[in-house]
Amino acid sequence: MTNSDLFRHRTIGLSSGDTAIPAVGFGTLIPDPVAAKQAVLTALKVGFRHFDCAERYRNEQVVGEALQEAFAAGIVQRKDLFITTKLWNTNHRPARVKPAFEASCRRLQVDYIDCYLIHTPFAFQAGDDQDPRDEHGQVIYDSGVTLIETWRALEGLVDSGRCKSIGLSDVTLKTLREIVAVARIKPAVVQVESHPYLPEWEMLEFCQEHGVVLLAFAPLGHNMEPNLLDDPVIKAIAARVGKTPAQAALAWAVQRGTAFLTTSKTPHRIEENFDISALPEDAMREMRDGIKTNIRFNSVVETGVPGFIPQVR
Ligand SMILES: NC(=O)c1ccc[n+]([C@@H]2O[C@H](COP(=O)([O-])OP(=O)(O)OC[C@H]3O[C@@H](n4cnc5c(N)ncnc54)[C@H](OP(=O)(O)O)[C@@H]3O)[C@@H](O)[C@H]2O)c1
Repeated sequence: MTNSDLFRHRTIGLSSGDTAIPAVGFGTLIPDPVAAKQAVLTALKVGFRHFDCAERYRNEQVVGEALQEAFAAGIVQRKDLFITTKLWNTNHRPARVKPAFEASCRRLQVDYIDCYLIHTPFAFQAGDDQDPRDEHGQVIYDSGVTLIETWRALEGLVDSGRCKSIGLSDVTLKTLREIVAVARIKPAVVQVESHPYLPEWEMLEFCQEHGVVLLAFAPLGHNMEPNLLDDPVIKAIAARVGKTPAQAALAWAVQRGTAFLTTSKTPHRIEENFDISALPEDAMREMRDGIKTNIRFNSVVETGVPGFIPQVR
């Protein structure tokens, strides 16, 4: 293996013990089912081994079909994959957790999940409608269940053996601290928005102190304005090392100790996003000190309602 191979296959050990998460991950938030299936197959072929799913994405079925096709074609075996999926906001009541987990396993056609996340810390009114709204269009929250009660139900899934690790998503550092303080099984992973315009250094420091992996979503800023792929610091570093700005941003994510989830429907970009190499230390320093823009692109952390916020220049 070359140094670049070692870099793009880097794994981070999880606090749960015998499992490690590949730092380079592929997200399946692609609404069109045909495109989602094709993207997952391409990602498997180019070498991605870590896939992020969610019942909320309403496409676990096609992701499962892509996985089955790849298994049948001998591209990969289940044991070589790391599969994450997530519990949606309407299933926070403890009695709903196991059925939701099992439904995800069925749709994905897998016997176990490597990591199960609480998608957001916001409980919505329990039921089959993923977006319960009142007559004014406001989200109906569920005040009858606390996050720690939901967490205890996830701990039960680990005890049952079908879920190797558990974690949180879209939480603030304050909420992460609260759960870490009382959890019997500590969160192994926390998935939050993070990229050079939202580095979340304080969250990363806390995670590293407590053995939690920070899994960055939108590592390329979700292709939104201001586009970090046009950032002068990132562009200059990319030109210097003979890589694209996307590859520089993704390498930075791995090298500073996070895992990332990138997504693309475009085959050559999927390939590009896997083909990353370590950056020189001075480039890492420049990324940290030279970029002043600070932007959160996704407001889910504030309300539990998913969505990237269109930015006005
Ligand atoms: N926990 C949460 O609440 C949450 C929220 C959002 C996302 N996520 C997870 O994180 C994953 C990744 O998020 P994301 O989609 O925002 O990631 P991203 O990789 O930052 O952004 C993807 C966007 O960038 C474009 N792109 C990808 N590679 C590129 C490249 N090399 N050059 C130029 N443009 C490129 C894609 O376009 P094309 O597709 O047109 O190529 C797509 O529009 C999701 O799939 C999901 O699994 C989780």
